[in-house]
This record gives sequence, C-alpha cells and structure tokens, in this order.
Amino acid sequence: MHIFYYVVALCSWSVLGKTLTASEETLSINSSRGRPILWGPYRPNVYFGMRARTPDSPLIGLMWAPLHDGDIVDSDLRHTCEQADHMRGYGWTEYDVRHGGMQTLHDAENGLDMETSLVMPERDEQRGSWAARIKVSPAAGTDKAINSTIILYIGLGTPHLTPPSALNCEVSSGIVRCVGSTPRIGDFQLSMSRVGVGSSVDVWGSSVSDDNVWQAKATFLDNRRAKTDDGPPNKNIYFLEATSEGESEFDIVFSSGSVQNTLNSIDLDREMRLARSSFSSRFDALYRPQSPFSDTAFAGCSKALLSNLLGGLGYFYGDSRVDAPRSLDNGGTTTGFWKAAKGTKVLHKSHVLSSSPSELFSFVPSRPFFPRGFLWDEGFHLLLVLKWDLDLAIEVLVSWIDLIDENGWIAREQILGAEARSKVPPEFQIQHSQHANPPTLFLAVGAICEILSANGRSYHGHDSKYLKDPETGIDFIRKIYPLMERQYTWFRRTQAGNMNYTRPYSPREGYRWRGRTPGNTFASGLDDYPRAEPPHPGELHVDALSWVGAMADSLGRVAAFLDDGSASVGFAKERKEIVSTIDALHWSAKANTFCDASVDDDNNHVFTCHKGCVSLFPFMLGLMVVNDSRLDTILSLLQDPNHLWSPHGIRSLSRMDPYYGTDEDYWRSPIWVNINYLLVKQLLILVSTPGPYSGRARHLYNDLRRNIVTTVYDSWQETGFAWEQYNAETGAGQRTQHFTGWTALVVDMMAMPDLERNETIFRVATSDQFMPPHHLWLAIAILILIFTFRKRLPRLIRR
Ligand SMILES: *[C@@H]1O[C@H](CO)[C@@H](O)[C@H](O)[C@H]1NC(C)=O
Ligand SMILES: *[C@@H]1O[C@H](CO)[C@@H](O)[C@H](O)[C@H]1NC(C)=O
Ligand SMILES: *[C@@H]1O[C@H](CO)[C@@H](O)[C@H](O)[C@H]1NC(C)=O
Ligand SMILES: *[C@@H]1O[C@H](CO)[C@@H](O)[C@H](O)[C@H]1NC(C)=O
Ligand SMILES: *[C@@H]1O[C@H](CO)[C@@H](O)[C@H](O)[C@H]1NC(C)=O
Repeated sequence: MHIFYYVVALCSWSVLGKTLTASEETLSINSSRGRPILWGPYRPNVYFGMRARTPDSPLIGLMWAPLHDGDIVDSDLRHTCEQADHMRGYGWTEYDVRHGGMQTLHDAENGLDMETSLVMPERDEQRGSWAARIKVSPAAGTDKAINSTIILYIGLGTPHLTPPSALNCEVSSGIVRCVGSTPRIGDFQLSMSRVGVGSSVDVWGSSVSDDNVWQAKATFLDNRRAKTDDGPPNKNIYFLEATSEGESEFDIVFSSGSVQNTLNSIDLDREMRLARSSFSSRFDALYRPQSPFSDTAFAGCSKALLSNLLGGLGYFYGDSRVDAPRSLDNGGTTTGFWKAAKGTKVLHKSHVLSSSPSELFSFVPSRPFFPRGFLWDEGFHLLLVLKWDLDLAIEVLVSWIDLIDENGWIAREQILGAEARSKVPPEFQIQHSQHANPPTLFLAVGAICEILSANGRSYHGHDSKYLKDPETGIDFIRKIYPLMERQYTWFRRTQAGNMNYTRPYSPREGYRWRGRTPGNTFASGLDDYPRAEPPHPGELHVDALSWVGAMADSLGRVAAFLDDGSASVGFAKERKEIVSTIDALHWSAKANTFCDASVDDDNNHVFTCHKGCVSLFPFMLGLMVVNDSRLDTILSLLQDPNHLWSPHGIRSLSRMDPYYGTDEDYWRSPIWVNINYLLVKQLLILVSTPGPYSGRARHLYNDLRRNIVTTVYDSWQETGFAWEQYNAETGAGQRTQHFTGWTALVVDMMAMPDLERNETIFRVATSDQFMPPHHLWLAIAILILIFTFRKRLPRLIRR
C-alpha cells in the first residue's frame, strides 16, 4: 500500500499549506514499509549515490579526487557520471537489486581505481539498513604514490515538501556519525569509518535551499575553504571527508526505523559473499551463455551488462513540463501543419504547464546520458528483468502505469524534478500530450501474463509472491487491465490517420505518429528514419499500425488470462483486422515490402518506401503467420548485404536507400540492439514452428545471434562500455557510452539456444524451456546417490 500511503502523506502536507496533488487513481501494490527494495543506489546519475524510494529520503552520494599538495583541483572532482570524465570503464560487475553487489570504477585521468561494494541484508530485523565499503587505490599499473580524498555527503530537503526533518553529523575517535529523521524514513543514522591505517576522516556541514541539495558538488566547491565547525545553523547537508595516502578503505553503515545497527552489526564481508553467490547461482540458472558463447569471458560480460541494467534502477520525484492542450498544431490536419509547430520547439512560457509532482521507479537507458525514464526503452528493460525478478519488474511496471493520465496518455520521457531537468536541453524538456511513443510496456505485460499463466513453470528468478499466491497475480492483472485499455484507446484516437483520402479497400483504421517535423518523427522512437517529405496529414505509418496490433495482441492475452472470454474474442478480432489492414494499406507489391503511405497531389494513396527497420515491424511484432509467403522477401531483405545484412548485425536502414548514412545518421544505418533482439526472437519462433521458412530462418537466426552478440562483446572488451548503437560498417560502439539499457538484451540472446549443431526442430519459445539447471543438479545428485549406495542396491532390489 505504499503508494496509497504517499497519497495520504502528500495530501496531509498539502493541507499544511503546500500545494500538492496526486492522481486519485494510483494503483497500490501491497508491500510493507520495510520492504527490502526500499533503499538502493537509486541515483543512477551519480557514480555512487543512495536514496530511498520516498520523496523525503536523505540523498547520499560519493565524490572523490586526487590530492595535490593536500588540495584538490576543481576539475578533478568526480561526482555525476560524465562521458567527459574519460573513465576507463565503470559499473557494477555483479549486482542484484535485492542484495547489492560490487562496482568498480577506473578513473584513468586521476590515476585512481575505486570499488564500491554495497550490501542490503534481506533479514527482517535489518530491513531499511545497508552498508557499503568504498575502496580507493592508485590505478593498476601506476607505482606513483598518490594521496586522495573521498567525500561522502548526506543531505536532506525536497522541493515542495518541507516536513520537519533534522540532520546532524559529528566526528569522534576517527568515526563520523550522523543522525537524522524524516517523516517517511523515521529516525536514521549513518556512520563512516576507515578500515585501514594511513587515513583520516573529518566532517563539516552547510545549509542550502531544498532544491539545491542534489547540487552537492557545487556546494562543496563553494564552501570547502570556509568550512568551520560552527558554520550556518540548520545545516541540511554534511560532507564526510576522508583523506588517504595510497590505498585505503572506508565502511559506511546506514540504519533506519526501529533498527539501530551499531557499526558492527552488519558483517560486510559475509553479506558480500552471500550476495555474490546468490547472484551467480541465479545467473547460471537463467542467463548462462550458450554455445558459441560458453567461454567464461562472455559470462563476465553478460553478468556486467545485466548488473548495470539492474544498477541503473532509479527513483525519481518531481514535477514535469507539459504543453498546455492545443498549444501546438502538431496534431495537424492541414497541409503544412508542421510549419505552425516550427519555432514552437521552445514554447512560450504560458504554453507550458508544470505538472504536479509524481514519482517514478524506473531503469535508465544510460547513467551518464539518459539518467531518467524512457517509455520506448522501459518495455525492453522489463523483458530482461521480469525473468530475473518478477516482483521487481511488476513494481517498476506499476510505477509507470500510475503515470497514465485520465485520457490514457503517458509522457514518453519522464523528466521529473530539477535534477533530472539539469541533464536535458530546454527544447526537449516539454512533453506533448498529443504525442505517443512505441508502447513497449505492452510487450512486458504480455510476457508477464505468460509466466503467470504457466504458474511459473519456466521461471527461475527471485521468489515471487504473484506465483506463490496466484490470486495476487490475477488481482494485479485485473488492476492494470483498464489502464492498459485506456492507453490503447488513447493511442487509437490521437494517432488515428486520416482515412478520408482515397485509400485502397477503405479499411477502418490507419495510424500516423503526431509531432512530425521535416526529417523527424520523434514520437516513433526512430527519430530521423526517412518518412514522407514534407510531412503530410495524409501519412500513414506502418510501425504505428503494427504497434496497435501488438497492443491488441497483449490485451488479448490479458483478457484470456482473466477468463474474460468476450473481450479476448474482441481483441483477437481487432488484431486480425489490423493484420489485414497492414496488408491492404502498407504492402507495396512494387517495392516488395511493407512501406509507409501518404497521398499524392490528387489525394490518392501512395507508398513511401524506405527499406529498413520500419518495413520489418509487422514481422518483428509477431503479426505474420509462419507460412505467410511474404516472409520470403522479408528474409531476403534481412539476408542481403546490399540492404540490411552486415557482419555486425542488422542495419536500421537499407544501404541502397538514398538517405543511408546521411545527416545526423541516428536511425539511418547504425545497428540497434533492441531491433536486432526482436528479430532474433521472431527468427527463433520461425525456426521452432514447422513451416516453409524454418530452414532458412535457422541459418539467419544462428548468424544474426552470433553477429550481434559478438559486436557488443568485442566493443565492450575494447572500450570497457556498452554503447547506444553500433557502426554498421565497422561494428564499433558509438554515440552514448555506458548504454546498458536495451543494449543489455544481448544477455538474453547469449542465453538463447545455439541451433548450429542440431538440425532437429525444437519447439521452443524461449531459452527457458531448455533443461533448467536444477534438473541437471537433481540428475547429478541421483547419480551420486546411486554410486554411493551401489553395493547395497542389489540387496535392496532383491528384498
Ligand atoms: C498487505 O499485506 C499484509 C501482510 O502480507 C496483510 O496483512 C494486509 O492485510 C495487506 N493489506 C492489503 C490492503 O491488502
Ligand atoms: C601524502 O600526504 C602525506 C601526509 O600529508 C605527505 O607527507 C606526502 O608527501 C603526501 N604524498 C604525496 C604523493 O603527495
Ligand atoms: C472525415 O470526413 C468526415 C465526414 O465528412 C468528417 O466528419 C471527419 O472529420 C473527417 N476526418 C478528418 C480527419 O478530416
Ligand atoms: C497457412 O497455414 C494455415 C493453417 O496451417 C492455412 O489455413 C493457411 O491457408 C496457410 N496459408 C498459406 C499462405 O499457405
Ligand atoms: C538433436 O536434438 C534432438 C532432440 O533434442 C536429439 O534427439 C538429437 O539426438 C540431437 N541431435 C544431435 C546431432 O545432437
């Protein structure tokens, strides 16, 4: 009931004079206040930052710098993840949201290596507590003596919320102790102490306005020379400074609520061992890489990618910038509609509303560059996470679904609060209430229904209360069903294409992404992928229609799961109609592929063909039957090196297209892992279902799986990072660094079966259906038993 609790808490604060409203219709997931995932490194934008999932949580973060003559150079101080810091790799090597894990950071420019280990004991009596060990050492390979300082800060203050809260820190006998309290967390304490010798700790405080607490680095740099013990009264941020010569370690212990841990009550080494072994065994059961990736180096890469996806989980709270309704003609019904929208990129202030604060628990695509929630990405993140930790995936899903407004709209980018906005240029901060985004959450909901319907038979993740008690699962799906349906209706209403032009066969529906500008279709998620130019109100987009089909498909599964027979039949009918509409409106016999459409000067339906990922959407989203004869050309398009095939994965646009590699070249050639993932999955389905193309699909599946995994792996080995996209000519990772969002989907692809060696057709939907390791262990155990008791066996049998 935590969300309900917030609503009550927020409302009561608003009575105290602060204006705060929260949606009446929030979903509630029943979990207690001390739930194990209350605390975490939920500030993924900083190298190491802890907070709880409540608006009034203390903010804790780490900074560090080398010391030169006892002082630091401002530009050496590390805090938020920045590509410009030129780190030689950083991130979690093994991390689980429920237990913690280990992060390594290679700060090459400063000549320092760091390690942050984090443990969150799961035992009830220690809920709400965690402990971390920060280790700093001269970078491997440098023998130069180096002094350094690490600064841990703890701050309190949330804009719009000024509940009574208190914080105080003091140092005594080499240990800094802080105590404080906030309404939601209750009393808490934090301590920091050194583990070895050759180091010292100190503390000083400062006072900043509520909305500046997150700017701890600036506060530190501005005030560090003036620091005095008696500083300002009512300090709400403290800096715990530890200087060390050479290598040293510091322990941080945090406890809250009724738990009053002393420094030693969490055995960090033991907890760390438990966390690691639990991570490894779950990984082996679920995501162990299959041939040809059986080498342990692939497992290391896969573990790191999964850990960084999980370690990119963030909690966000704050207001967002939304356009006032009808401030734009981007919904455009007239020719040249986009001209009206032009120049309104930075909207006049009076057109922008600040929404009431909301909260979001979300994975982020990239800690340095996109440290916030993205709708298009989140469904992909959840596809990996829901197999690992179903209940966590559901908490995150619910957090997103709570953001669906009364019309059914959900903003594509969640930029909540000043800290999140600080990373986004003003023209991209505003969310438009007429603009959609690929509804990927529906893919995750479909997959969750599949696990729940199978009663978890092929599920190897963390224990799930939804599987333990099926009623809970049904209850959850029943709660999200109307909201998903509301979004489906909103999408079909607001993104409807104009069917008044002369269309073939006058089908009922066709769709058009709103918010188009020349050269861009942001809402589609495929930004600069070529479409009709100039934008026209008569456009129809094949990917938009395919997404509607995918939504109908997912809602059909939801309805079937809930035994809602008539709804399930209804959605199946809608899906079927959409499949025929895709044929009627978007199949170009001339181009021999699926294409966008528009209208010509005489208002007649014409195709806008640019072969590439847009042409693949009906296939990628599972809307083609395995014996559809057009699969022949789809497979040829994929296989042809002159079009989409490359040794590094499937290109986003055909090499033959005039736009290939032009301008910004964002979606005009590079290889994207999410697209390749959908393709690999669909190919596996083709292979596993008897049909005319299963043989051909097998080769394609094997080659594509190997190529895309190898591309990500090689680049990771070379650069220490996963990337946003990969160069179609060289395979090199490019654009955003540390992109461990959907690029982490290679974790699942590594674990998919290798069909190279075995020509038998398996009936597999996913890698889950292979012999799960616990069966293997059982088999080994039985063999050992037989071996041990082999002498007695004959007697037992004779008797
Ligand atoms: C929440 O869960 C607790 C314990 O699992 C139970 O006692 C309580 O009744 C539940 N509350 C609701 C509203 O379901
Ligand atoms: C490190 O600090 C110690 C003590 O302040 C000092 O004696 C030593 O010279 C420093 N070393 C370097 C490399 O700066
Ligand atoms: C299509 O034509 C109908 C009937 O004339 C009209 O009501 C509707 O608004 C038109 N739709 C669009 C998108 O122009
Ligand atoms: C595909 O298979 C289904 C059933 O197996 C059949 O009804 C249909 O006619 C087939 N379509 C084609 C194009 O072969
Ligand atoms: C292929 O798999 C099938 C079914 O699992 C098995 O019976 C067969 O022996 C395998 N063949 C080879 C060459 O491994």
